[in-house]
Amino acid sequence: MLNIAIIAGGNSGEYDVSMKSGKLVELHLDRERYHPFFVEIQGQEWVCHLQEKKIPIDKNDFSIHVDGKKTRFDVVFNAIHGTPGEDGKLQGYFDVLGIPYTSSGVTTSALTFNKSFCKKVVASFGIHTAKSVHLLSDSPDPVGAIWEEISLPCFVKPNNGGSSVGMSKVNQPEELEPALEKAFKEDTEILVEEFIKGRELTCGVIRSGGTVTAFPVTEIISKKEFFDFEAKYHENLAEEVCPAKIPARVSDECQCISADLYKRLNCDGVVRFDYIYSNDRLFFLEVNTVPGLSEQSIVPKMAVANGWSVKELFTRMIEECVNRF
Ligand SMILES: Nc1ncnc2c1ncn2[C@@H]1O[C@H](COP(=O)(O)OP(=O)(O)O)[C@@H](O)[C@H]1O
Ligand SMILES: [Mg+2]
Repeated sequence: MLNIAIIAGGNSGEYDVSMKSGKLVELHLDRERYHPFFVEIQGQEWVCHLQEKKIPIDKNDFSIHVDGKKTRFDVVFNAIHGTPGEDGKLQGYFDVLGIPYTSSGVTTSALTFNKSFCKKVVASFGIHTAKSVHLLSDSPDPVGAIWEEISLPCFVKPNNGGSSVGMSKVNQPEELEPALEKAFKEDTEILVEEFIKGRELTCGVIRSGGTVTAFPVTEIISKKEFFDFEAKYHENLAEEVCPAKIPARVSDECQCISADLYKRLNCDGVVRFDYIYSNDRLFFLEVNTVPGLSEQSIVPKMAVANGWSVKELFTRMIEECVNRF
């Protein structure tokens, strides 16, 4: 029986989503193999939820002490979206302690969490990406730099964010400055990207039993102007069609590119690649190395469409990371 610390929470606008992901993992974990412990990490407060009590985590070795007995965890199931679970910070901590975790390693997590750096690397593999400008908080003339490169409509995003928090679609020039202000509230870096008109596709990829598998491609049809925070978490505001009703040629290409990116970016665990399909081309938007795992999330549905139960998905993630270590 392995002790599994399911880590959830985190320090971003994705806290609530992460808590839901963690709960779904706890619900579906195979109790014949694993003993789950729900560990909430928020700021300096790291606690294990144990029978209505919150037991502080000893950060020296990531353990808990209960009734004079120390409990250690064999594996970390990472369900923290955003910092510090998706950007490499906790990966570094667990590497130092020698505890295996279900997501990608430090470098891959840090690179892919930075949308701008990630796009540059992905573009170097010959994949299409939207034209964009990366701004730091001390950029002398952000608005000038944007107009020089970008035409409307465009997206203004925190460069290191998720769940569309702090993001805006800018249709009119006067909307740009408020959008920049909103994004700078979430992050010290901003990514401004040209809008690509097309259909939104996403593809989950996992390494299991040494084999890289791309799940059936899913189409996201948002009733909002784009797949914003509300559309992501309100049942009736977006439809996720899995498998997507697209020509086989397109879904094959999407799976092929995604599996290739997974390998080239050196990913581990389950990862989701987002695209816009436009004029018969796939434009890479971003990669999520800790994708949502809640009841409403896409990856559990993809696994089911692939013929796996949610329990099997989680077992495969844990077994792969134990074997990798
Ligand atoms: N360049 C773009 N063209 C068209 N739609 C976009 C573009 N960038 C983002 N979007 C829309 O915004 C959503 C969120 O953007 P994304 O970059 O995936 O950020 P997040 O990490 O917050 O999910 C996407 O799912 C898509 O609906
Ligand atoms: Mg996204």
